[in-house]
Amino acid sequence: MSITPNVQAYRAGLLTFHADPAFSERAHSWYEDGLLIVADGKIRAAGDWSQLHDTLPPDTPVTDYRGKIITAGFIDAHIHYPQTDMIASPAPGLLPWLEKYTFPTERAFADPAHAGGVAEFFLDELLRVGTTTALVYCTVHPQSVDAFFTASEARGLRMIAGKVMMDRNCPDFLCDTAEQGARESEELIKRWHNHGRSQYAITPRFAPTSTEAQMELAGALARQYPDTYLQTHVSENEDECKWVQQLYPKARSYLDVYDHYGMLRPRAVFGHCIWLDDGDRARLAETKSAAAVCPTSNLFLGSGLFDFEEADKAGMLMALATDVGGGTSFSMLQTMNEAYKVARLKGSYLPALRMFYLSTLGAARSLHLDGTIGSLAAGNEADFIVLDPQATPLLARRTARTESLEEMLFALALLGDDRVIAATYSAGKPVHKRES
Ligand code: GUN
Ligand code: ZN
Repeated sequence: MSITPNVQAYRAGLLTFHADPAFSERAHSWYEDGLLIVADGKIRAAGDWSQLHDTLPPDTPVTDYRGKIITAGFIDAHIHYPQTDMIASPAPGLLPWLEKYTFPTERAFADPAHAGGVAEFFLDELLRVGTTTALVYCTVHPQSVDAFFTASEARGLRMIAGKVMMDRNCPDFLCDTAEQGARESEELIKRWHNHGRSQYAITPRFAPTSTEAQMELAGALARQYPDTYLQTHVSENEDECKWVQQLYPKARSYLDVYDHYGMLRPRAVFGHCIWLDDGDRARLAETKSAAAVCPTSNLFLGSGLFDFEEADKAGMLMALATDVGGGTSFSMLQTMNEAYKVARLKGSYLPALRMFYLSTLGAARSLHLDGTIGSLAAGNEADFIVLDPQATPLLARRTARTESLEEMLFALALLGDDRVIAATYSAGKPVHKRES
């Protein structure tokens, strides 16, 4: 008995990347009248309608998205789901913001019902803005991780998340111990890592909230489970950098603290990376660790400006990220908008194609997930989004006058937000449709 695959097809403009546009002239494919063919949740083909439509099995449903653009789903390389309810809370910088808003908000995640409710809202919001995979901080409570993965697996999403580890310089109600943090993290790795589409991220919050004993144990876990992720914050804010210098006087730099404990490795993702020096950048590049670049957060908290040019010179892996609730938008389009301005203020230039790359294939490469997600290549999981260049009257007017793909994408990035996302698909299934 032959099992007939479940095939769907979508007619639209198709944009997909094969390489980094900063380093290759043939980094992307653009099919103005394209056809995306999906079978059993995976991409079977993406190309010109004229060449592919004859290959469809008879009676294959073809969804007509002409006038719209399909790309791989966006990937957000750094976001805190428990901070959803405190987005846009004002404070004069990172450390007071953590004290006044973040820690009290995270306290409520001891309650699994609360965690589950926020996780559902958070995932709705991600899908509304076209983000199909994210690297997610939970709270110190293991139940916050269970709630998150339970919700993401019910929707069939590819998500990466982990329990925050912190055992000093935090309120008692959020403090674990070195041993408890490591034991609970290991239990969660066993429960969730590579369970369906879930993957686990070992999550020491940042060097100031971990004792050396906790850093040792987090590093040991990262070595014992080398295919897990590791996520943390580094060199975000100047006051924070000075604090780290006092807490770890022997370290050459803030990043060097993590290096000392064996945390630089493939699948290690460092949030912010603003106040790095050349030695730090070289270490990130040679260890195949990645930077998660969070421009809306960095501008909002006044943390500083990421240096794209120096990161490229060093050959660092990097991805764009929102850092909600330090970040002020869930939208990767709004994140591109701010990334563009950060680059300008640093005297460099980010083309729109590069920003779309850094939110799709570039992010997948940073997470060592290329070949699985991040492009429309055959065999990838069918996580894709449908962008509407006519989503608002202003966008319709502007995009009617754009003269190149670059100009069109630039307008979408600068003017777009959740309204641009007409539909989101995960593993071939619709998981969000915009109300028109
Ligand atoms: N550094 C340590 N914790 C956090 C956090 O929750 N958000 C940001 N932006 N930086 C941090
Ligand atoms: Zn963060």
